[in-house]
Amino acid sequence: MAIENRKVTVTVNGQERSAEVEPRKLLVHYLRDDLGLTGTHIGCDTSQCGACTIMVNGAAVKSCTMLAVQADKSELTTVEGLGTIDHLHPMQQSFWEEHGLQCGYCTPGVMMAMIGLLQENPNPSEEEIREGMEGVICRCTGYQFIVSAVQKAAKIMAEAAAKDGEAVAASQLVGEGTHRG
Ligand code: FES
Ligand code: FES
Repeated sequence: MAIENRKVTVTVNGQERSAEVEPRKLLVHYLRDDLGLTGTHIGCDTSQCGACTIMVNGAAVKSCTMLAVQADKSELTTVEGLGTIDHLHPMQQSFWEEHGLQCGYCTPGVMMAMIGLLQENPNPSEEEIREGMEGVICRCTGYQFIVSAVQKAAKIMAEAAAKDGEAVAASQLVGEGTHRG
């Protein structure tokens, strides 16, 4: 008996997208083949390399470890949603400036995994960054430049968060002033 396709709808990089898929289809194949988001790479299909890492509802996930149907109604971010040519995400900017890549095959997944790491630990030590990379494999760089890139991204993101905090505090003061006035 043929197994019926299922409609899978996700919000990916801020846009709602849908496709009919076989229930056995992996999320990474749904992204690449059905939605055309080929920035997410496949290095192994057996959850070893991390090239397929994306954000699912805000957490870094290897998209070859999930079925597309399991992601139905989820919020996804892929590398295409990180930044633009004019406004790179701090992680992209740092990889560029620190030469954190050579062939680039692992890079989308490594960046997503490292964004996940910084969400949990905004100021990781070198050792913690190396531990965080245990689930991702790079065959070219020897990892040192990736570590430097992640350290730089952490610094940029911390400075941006501090500025945002100051702006919020200032707007609250303005708000308080208005109430008092
Ligand atoms: S393709 Fe998913 S971990 Fe390698
Ligand atoms: S840059 Fe080539 S695999 Fe990482």
